[in-house]
Amino acid sequence: MRKKLFAANWKMNLGPKEGVQFCRDFLNLISPDAQREWVIFPPSITLSSIYPILKGSPVKLGGQNCYFEEKGAFTGEISPGMYRECGATYILVGHSERRQIFGESDQICSRKIKLISENGIIPMLCVGETQMERDENQTQDVLKRQLNEGLRFWNPSTPLTIAYEPVWAIGTGKVATPNMAEEAHLEIRKILGQIAGGANRAAEIQILYGGSVKPENSREMMAFPNIDGFLVGGASLVPKTFAQIGQIPL
Ligand code: 13P
Repeated sequence: MRKKLFAANWKMNLGPKEGVQFCRDFLNLISPDAQREWVIFPPSITLSSIYPILKGSPVKLGGQNCYFEEKGAFTGEISPGMYRECGATYILVGHSERRQIFGESDQICSRKIKLISENGIIPMLCVGETQMERDENQTQDVLKRQLNEGLRFWNPSTPLTIAYEPVWAIGTGKVATPNMAEEAHLEIRKILGQIAGGANRAAEIQILYGGSVKPENSREMMAFPNIDGFLVGGASLVPKTFAQIGQIPL
């Protein structure tokens, strides 16, 4: 049975000091629960200061981005192995902001996923269509392309998490309806079945929804069978709000 996973993508918010305060407050608001998992994706410079606080707690740590080489002359980049050393067990790949602002292609995502998995870290691949692609009925094609190309070098025996984040719902206050999200998640699971060589393997993979998730809209979505949790941006910056989302009655 898939556990529910609640993930906080802080993006470029909460430096080391604010991150420490957040984690202290957040840990006071949640209790361990066998059916749930939490992960925080802080800015990489915040990782080392919050790791000692989260260590041994139910909250895991992740990187927001990485490079696809282990080391070398790549100024400004961070490798999966370095993240692992700082306590990260997840790394986000292909967030729409990385794709749109930094020009990351599916091919780059595939190389990152390969190295992340080889380092024993769980990649969380972000996929999702733009408003224009949805209007032109291209959602399925976009998901197929992003998954098939992004997972080209993925070994299905290694862990994987997917975040469905329709670009038009990110930071806009426009949230997908639960039916829209469930439909996309079902499609993603079908494609994963083809890539991973069977529906059984696909059934083990958590698929999170992301895009303007708030305590008020998360509850209804959680009731849908293929929505396994959330990747939360803005609402994850306040401990109480993220804790409310992460403790929705199941
Ligand atoms: P918002 O929750 O702020 O819309 O951001 C979603 C997101 O991009 C999470 O990765």
